[in-house]
Amino acid sequence: MSFLSQTLARVKPSPTVAVTQLARELAAAGRDVIGLGAGEPDFDTPDNIKAAAIAAIEAGKTKYTAPDGIPELKQAVCAKFARENGLTYTQSQISVSTGGKQVLYNALMATLNPGDEVIIPAPYWVSYPDMVRLGGGEPVIVEGAEAEGFRITPAQLEAAITPKTKWFIFNSPSNPTGAGYDRAALKALTDVLMRHPHVWVMSDDMYEHLAYDGFTFVSPAQVEPGLYDRTLTVNGVSKAYAMTGWRIGYAGGPEHLIAAMRKVQGQSTTNPCSISQWAAVEALNGPQDFLAERAAVFARRRDMVVARLNDCAGITCAVPEGAFYVYPSVAGCLGKTSSQGARIDSDEAFCTALLEGEGVAVVFGAAFGLSPHFRVSYAASDAALADACDRIERFCAGLT
Ligand SMILES: Cc1ncc(COP(=O)(O)O)c(C=O)c1O
Repeated sequence: MSFLSQTLARVKPSPTVAVTQLARELAAAGRDVIGLGAGEPDFDTPDNIKAAAIAAIEAGKTKYTAPDGIPELKQAVCAKFARENGLTYTQSQISVSTGGKQVLYNALMATLNPGDEVIIPAPYWVSYPDMVRLGGGEPVIVEGAEAEGFRITPAQLEAAITPKTKWFIFNSPSNPTGAGYDRAALKALTDVLMRHPHVWVMSDDMYEHLAYDGFTFVSPAQVEPGLYDRTLTVNGVSKAYAMTGWRIGYAGGPEHLIAAMRKVQGQSTTNPCSISQWAAVEALNGPQDFLAERAAVFARRRDMVVARLNDCAGITCAVPEGAFYVYPSVAGCLGKTSSQGARIDSDEAFCTALLEGEGVAVVFGAAFGLSPHFRVSYAASDAALADACDRIERFCAGLT
């Protein structure tokens, strides 16, 4: 019998981490590598937020806190949900954790029983299916077709629901495609959910503030108030405020679910970092104007990358609504051979050959559950993006 748990045997190591590691190794060996694999803004955390953290340290706010967040942060989160999403929560309905990732993890650990099904639209953020497996549940993958803008249809959602369905995980704008559901598209899904009162909704709104061309972000409980009592609305400061390393995420939801999540957290990490919590208070309560300024920079980069990728032989790239990713198809490259002799028979082979041949690190689509694609993170400087696009173009031109 293996020393390791049977549950862990069902879990795959993160493919995005693997790509990043290979890129690091090539760079350490002296190769000139451009990393477009990471899912974090290249901007720095704003100064007012850093100052709040320094002030917290100097004021001695360096001790254990309440397990799921200091009251000041819970209050700031309640104000954020009311201000930006029209959602009313009280402090007892708020959970703060070590990143949005732990919020999602706590919720799944607190609710899943063996055999419970969790519907996950593909392409998906790599962690959802494996977190579900860690919790003993079964991921049920529903593919969002490229022709549908990578969005799932109401009919697909309806067909995936069974008596065992516990959660529907929803992520808009999406990692990895950047696809966003507008109010009408989301309402069509919430109408389906209203017919199935046993299904709960986990809405991952992490990319809320990264939306372009006038796309208006909406969250399920906002679009359909009838879902409020069975929706966990998850968000965080990582992406919007360039605070990935601070590790603060939060959620609003029904009090009994929040209490159950508190129990999981109390027996694992105890509480999120006290200093980061004070930084997050400032992030949510402080000036917000820079969000639109940064979104404008991302929109410009998106347009540049999409245009350049569509000029590459064999690649087609749709224009997504948000996040900082694009998800081009390499269907036109399959069956070819690179100038270094690598056969391109999958998106993984394409990405490996691109990294080895041209030193551009991107993540292959199979990792996100939809092939043949790859994910480009355009959270990088204009110069790095232009250089990477030159290299991808050269790589594709060399395929025979
Ligand atoms: C869709 C999505 N949800 C959640 C997270 C987790 O973010 P964090 O734990 O940094 O708050 C990420 C990070 O990559 C993400 O892409």
